Amino acid sequence: MYGSSGSSGAPNVRKVTVPDLRARKLSGEKIAMVTAYDFTMARLVDEAGVDVVLVGDSLGMVVQGLTTTIPVTLEEMAYHCRAVARGLGRAHLVGDLPFMSYQVSPQQAVESAGRLMKEGACESVKLEGGQEVAEHVHRIVRAGIPVVGHIGLTPQSVHALGGFKVQGRGAEGAEKVLADAVALEQAGAFAIVLEAIPPDVAEQVTALLSIPTIGIGAGAGCDGQVLVCTDLLGLARGHQPKFAKRFANLGDAAVDAFSAYVAEVRAGTFPGAGQTYKANAALAVQAGAQVSPHRPREIAWSSDELDAPLALDLWH
Ligand code: KIV
Repeated sequence: MYGSSGSSGAPNVRKVTVPDLRARKLSGEKIAMVTAYDFTMARLVDEAGVDVVLVGDSLGMVVQGLTTTIPVTLEEMAYHCRAVARGLGRAHLVGDLPFMSYQVSPQQAVESAGRLMKEGACESVKLEGGQEVAEHVHRIVRAGIPVVGHIGLTPQSVHALGGFKVQGRGAEGAEKVLADAVALEQAGAFAIVLEAIPPDVAEQVTALLSIPTIGIGAGAGCDGQVLVCTDLLGLARGHQPKFAKRFANLGDAAVDAFSAYVAEVRAGTFPGAGQTYKANAALAVQAGAQVSPHRPREIAWSSDELDAPLALDLWH
């Protein structure tokens, strides 16, 4: 109904697994990862052959209109993950652990990761931070939950970092990124997102690790790339980060479509014959009969219609 069906459109497709993704490090086949926040977008990215779908806490900014990801809750993440999971047939689903759902302690991290797996139907979780969360990652992995790390620009720390700024600059900055990456690999992460760091630093990290790196604003030398779906589609308005390449301009296309709709509604040309049901023949027989202005006309449901199970093509 309403132009969708209730589950993924890809019945016989094999899921991308964590071992598949790890194997890409050796095979050299790049990993394509995109964010999604709802069922409709999930189906489209899955159909396009995206390997990994991330329900990022960027949903706070993209879906909720917040200025940072900080207020996003675990319940909100689980809600969006569930919707996305229903749209995926092939792609691996990663759910983001939001701010303060894991930083407090390794135990809190395991509990929150477990909730995203159970309530959000995720297949792995992502969390931000390096050496300071290595123990948390280790404990989550020991619980049987695959973990993606995220270092460089970590948006949940935007205030500590002084803004959404490039990280890993200078010798000290580069050393920190390298040390964080090694700590996460040793803790058991199966992949690491590198956000907004110089390309040569990302290349060094990629060469050093035996797990895949997935870059966003980290140059072409990573083992994969990730973009926010609304940036990629050109749906976002306002300032865009340098790395956010637009592969389409659907924002302008959407405004054009909505404007055309407004114009047709105002002109009375929508709905036309193609969007209108057949006329009620019974009413034609009664043509000329008076309908009391005080009594609403009763809808004449036939007994067949009342007994019939809800037909999925009711709208056609
Ligand atoms: O929240 C998110 O969408 C992310 C990606 C930008 C990597 O963390």
